[in-house]
Amino acid sequence: MTMQPLYDLPLTVVENIRLTSVTNVLVLDAPVIAPVIRSGQFVNVKVNGFHQPLLRRPLSVHRVVGSQIEIMIRIVGIGTQILYDAPVGTALQTLAPLGNTFGYNRDDFDTALLVSGGIGVAPMAMLEETLLKRGKKVVNFIGARSAPDVITRGLTNIHAATDDGSLGFKGNIVRLLAEELPQFNGERLRVFSCGPNRMLESLAQFCNERGLPCEVSIESIMGCGIGICYGCPVRVRGEDGLAHNQLLCQYGSVIDAKEIMFEV
Ligand SMILES: Cc1cc2nc3c(=O)[nH]c(=O)nc-3n(C[C@H](O)[C@H](O)[C@H](O)COP(=O)(O)OP(=O)(O)OC[C@H]3O[C@@H](n4cnc5c(N)ncnc54)[C@H](O)[C@@H]3O)c2cc1C
Ligand code: FES
Repeated sequence: MTMQPLYDLPLTVVENIRLTSVTNVLVLDAPVIAPVIRSGQFVNVKVNGFHQPLLRRPLSVHRVVGSQIEIMIRIVGIGTQILYDAPVGTALQTLAPLGNTFGYNRDDFDTALLVSGGIGVAPMAMLEETLLKRGKKVVNFIGARSAPDVITRGLTNIHAATDDGSLGFKGNIVRLLAEELPQFNGERLRVFSCGPNRMLESLAQFCNERGLPCEVSIESIMGCGIGICYGCPVRVRGEDGLAHNQLLCQYGSVIDAKEIMFEV
């Protein structure tokens, strides 16, 4: 992949769309970043102009629409709460584009299975759009705790699973994938995934056991986002079969399921 320039720019909130009581989409005016950011990459956002919270928050790019980028936020703590409440007109200092991409340079599949859990749906809309433009068939598998948590913004062809059975399949998303996989027999498949680590670990094992190509986008706590603070180590299996440390912000956040080691 060619080196991309890295920008640190104030992006103005032009719309704050509330999807649920804990999830929103911020539409940001980003004429410099929108044309260069790619599917699977993320941005690192300073949520306000104060020293608290000091560190930026990493967020996937949800969609690119013209000169604007959209980020989808789920409240988990102080930073995401501030972003949920961000008024139109707020300028958010943003480092971008960060990380690698989903499926970069790969053309070894015809059907893409997009498997997401919880806020892991955030990057899937941009991925789906990119893949459809490339002539791929896209099928979404979305897992959540309960019906109100199933977010489908920008997604089509949806198969849902909820823990409590209030929408779609009752159970986790990997079990639903296992049930439905036979219907894709004969198709060249690739799985693209984002969600909680426990889900990704189970999905990676499922795919690896079946020789199903799979990429997972890992979400972990990050500091700088650019390889300086060493705050985001992950273990990956090298070509020598041994475990190596990598920095998620640079090596990922998208990593091949055959490489990532979750046991750390
Ligand atoms: C590459 C990447 C992409 C991401 N994309 C999105 C996205 O599109 N939308 C979105 O809502 N979130 C996304 N996240 C997660 C998001 O960065 C965190 O939820 C956010 O940084 C939490 O900040 P906070 O100040 O609200 O929480 P804090 O107040 O810092 O923490 C609150 C609690 O959440 C825990 N926590 C913090 N960060 C994470 C994390 N990354 N994973 C699990 N637990 C965490 C803390 O340990 C603490 O218990 C992404 C993370 C990464 C690494
Ligand atoms: S977040 Fe600082 S090195 Fe990765």
